[in-house]
Amino acid sequence: MADLKQEIKRRRTFAIISHPDAGKTTLTEKFLLYGGAINQAGAVKGKHNAKHAVSDWMEIEKQRGISVTSSVLQFEYDDYCINILDTPGHQDFSEDTYRTLMAADSAVMVIDGSKGVEAQTIKLFKVCVMRQIPIFTFINKMDRDANDPFELMDEIENVLGIATCPVNWPIGSGKGFRGVYDRNSKHITTFTATASGMKEAASEELPLKNAKKLLTEGEYEKLLEDIELLDGASAEFEQDLVSAGQLSPVFFGSALTNFGVENFLQHFLQMTTSPLPRNSSEGMIDPFSDVFSAFVFKIQANMNKAHRDRIAFMRICSGKFDADKDVYHVQGERKQKLSQPQQLMAQERKIVAEAYAGDIIGVFDPGIFSIGDTVCSPGSKFAFEGIPTFAPEHFARVRQVDTMKRKQFIKGVSQIAQEGAIQIFQEFNTGMEEIIVGVVGVLQFDVLKFRLESEYGVDIRLEKLPYEYIRWIENKDEIDVAKIQGTSDMKRIKDLKDNPLLLFVNSWSVGMVLDRNPGLKLSEFGRE
Ligand code: G4P
Repeated sequence: MADLKQEIKRRRTFAIISHPDAGKTTLTEKFLLYGGAINQAGAVKGKHNAKHAVSDWMEIEKQRGISVTSSVLQFEYDDYCINILDTPGHQDFSEDTYRTLMAADSAVMVIDGSKGVEAQTIKLFKVCVMRQIPIFTFINKMDRDANDPFELMDEIENVLGIATCPVNWPIGSGKGFRGVYDRNSKHITTFTATASGMKEAASEELPLKNAKKLLTEGEYEKLLEDIELLDGASAEFEQDLVSAGQLSPVFFGSALTNFGVENFLQHFLQMTTSPLPRNSSEGMIDPFSDVFSAFVFKIQANMNKAHRDRIAFMRICSGKFDADKDVYHVQGERKQKLSQPQQLMAQERKIVAEAYAGDIIGVFDPGIFSIGDTVCSPGSKFAFEGIPTFAPEHFARVRQVDTMKRKQFIKGVSQIAQEGAIQIFQEFNTGMEEIIVGVVGVLQFDVLKFRLESEYGVDIRLEKLPYEYIRWIENKDEIDVAKIQGTSDMKRIKDLKDNPLLLFVNSWSVGMVLDRNPGLKLSEFGRE
């Protein structure tokens, strides 16, 4: 069993979160470069040419030109086995982006030094906080004019509400970016711009006391001042707080020029965690246990249109997966072999014979799995805690054009909802005559329309609704929903399980309704 423990111990499974364009793809690519998984920068992404990012690998998406999935990359670095979970941004943003965070043990938050904390980062950050996983900050693009680093720290603390602890500190920015000071070793490393494809950024390292050799008098004085301020004002590094997700170690660098990237990776791998225990119906499941277990966090439908098949993505939570052995699907109550298990290794998909806690596998799904399902070694029957339902931000009333196709319409909408691509709701007082669809990313409406047409032969009409905020009623058993004192922009709806929910146009109305109805408890996440 020594092997099993060692394999699991060396695994690091994390998500990279950021607002689009902060540099997530560039940083991921540089990690792969240092890990030797690719040998040329630029291999991963080709935004401006016909090539797709490696992490943008689904053929069906390429055909549709839509990236509706998050994917995983595995590579080795320095005896670590690293799984990076990609969280798509831009208009690809969807519930899958959130769900991916359920499979991660920690998160790297990439922030553009000239923009600070942006909208999408805030949304993803909230999910990380809910899960209490460690969050590491990489402040990128220091080779460009950046905001004052103290202001950036303040912003992270104020907007995101997490304490920060700079591990290194920038010396200047933009044209005046000279390098970083490592607070631990008390050395400075100077920055030399290199061609973006090169592996190593040529740089020099010196103890602070000799830094005058490399810095101007003014730069040196400013650095000493900054260090004094920092030592007085910023939180001290405490591993326990980092592990509990209460303190974010902060690094400055430039992904494009490779500056500070490998240093960040090394620190990060030491400070982050190997696979974490996960809560189940039988208590915490130890990742190092001999019992294999995994849960489904994403379902990718219709990989091959001719077969209508699906791929279920599973995060292995404990033990070892052996493709030759049966597993027990807890919700389906049956034993089976997982079919065509595969992993994405840097640039290729490959069939896997074995995998360990921390790893992500995609398995062929004939339609039996749902999001949140558990599989484990036969003999065990525990189920992992369900995945929350994340708040959709776009809503539309949906109707089928041909009323004769009612049955196909309901079937299609229900199946697509079951895969987790959309959420469906009804008017509070009526049945299924009218359906309200909620999505996290607006592109999901197009996906819905496309899939209903092509897979179910149903034409639909979508009427966008103005609501942007949805809240679950946490204490629904204690509240008479019909009697809630609402605002003019509030709408009562229910989900398919008859759970009541409230929709709002304005965020301040949420607060208003809470004020008007003492005792009412609202939540941004739904729990099954
Ligand atoms: P994303 O995945 O977070 O959306 O960001 P991505 O890595 O695609 O980076 C967005 C843009 O920012 C890219 O430029 C990229 O080259 C640039 N970039 C990333 N890191 C740095 C950095 O450290 N310094 C500077 N100066 N730029 C950086 P682009 O013009 O949109 O694309 P490309 O033509 O470079 O591919």
